[in-house]
Amino acid sequence: METLIGEGKTKQVFSYDSDHVLLRFKDTITAGDGAKVDIMENKGVINAQTSALIFRLLERNGIRTHYVGMYDERTMIAKKLKMIPVEVVLRNIATGSIVKRLPIKEGEIFDPPIIEYFLKDDSRHDPMLNYYHLEYFKLMNRKEAEVVESVMMRVNEVLRDIIRKMGFELYDFKLEFGRLGNEIIVGDEITLDSMRVRDPKTGRILDKDLYRKGYDLKTVKEAYEEFLSKLEKV
Ligand code: C5P
Repeated sequence: METLIGEGKTKQVFSYDSDHVLLRFKDTITAGDGAKVDIMENKGVINAQTSALIFRLLERNGIRTHYVGMYDERTMIAKKLKMIPVEVVLRNIATGSIVKRLPIKEGEIFDPPIIEYFLKDDSRHDPMLNYYHLEYFKLMNRKEAEVVESVMMRVNEVLRDIIRKMGFELYDFKLEFGRLGNEIIVGDEITLDSMRVRDPKTGRILDKDLYRKGYDLKTVKEAYEEFLSKLEKV
């Protein structure tokens, strides 16, 4: 493989050519800003495939992403972006950190959805940012944030629709963005590590909350596999 130029908790980045990088999805699964770590066999392949299918779906719907193609079953060829170290979260239904932070009940519906920004900084547990912080840290100006928010809303429509067709409900998701010339486009990944998906009838969880809540790795893997197999068929 090419030269390793970066590594995060779940992916390695390799140089490829002047405009592209390779993103290799590892088998690690982590929670609590890296406090809990395990190896889930084949997770890298499952997540690379899941993310590739979703990026292709977004591209077909006119949403620009960094996705170019697959190098091997767990490695994505992606456009080289200047990544913005911010996690952008969109919430349709309340769960997770928002119900701990604010007087909001689990399961409350947000219409319109709520968008939040967090700085990527595990040592500070990804603090929330507002527009002033985004400008102060030179991450994004307000106009760029508006573009990012309109992309988040579009991604939500497309993702929510396909996930409903699979018989599930999209509670929330996180995206990361990067600059390509003057444009800001979707980077990183879209997988069950970065979104919350539940069965609306039974409340069954299919995403990384299973791992966060302490379910065994077999249960987590079966949920990830079930989601991917339904995504492939829809
Ligand atoms: O924990 P919280 O409720 O803020 O998470 C919102 C969404 O962002 C969830 O779908 C979660 O999986 C995702 N997320 C993420 N990476 C983080 C924090 C949250 O992908 N570091």
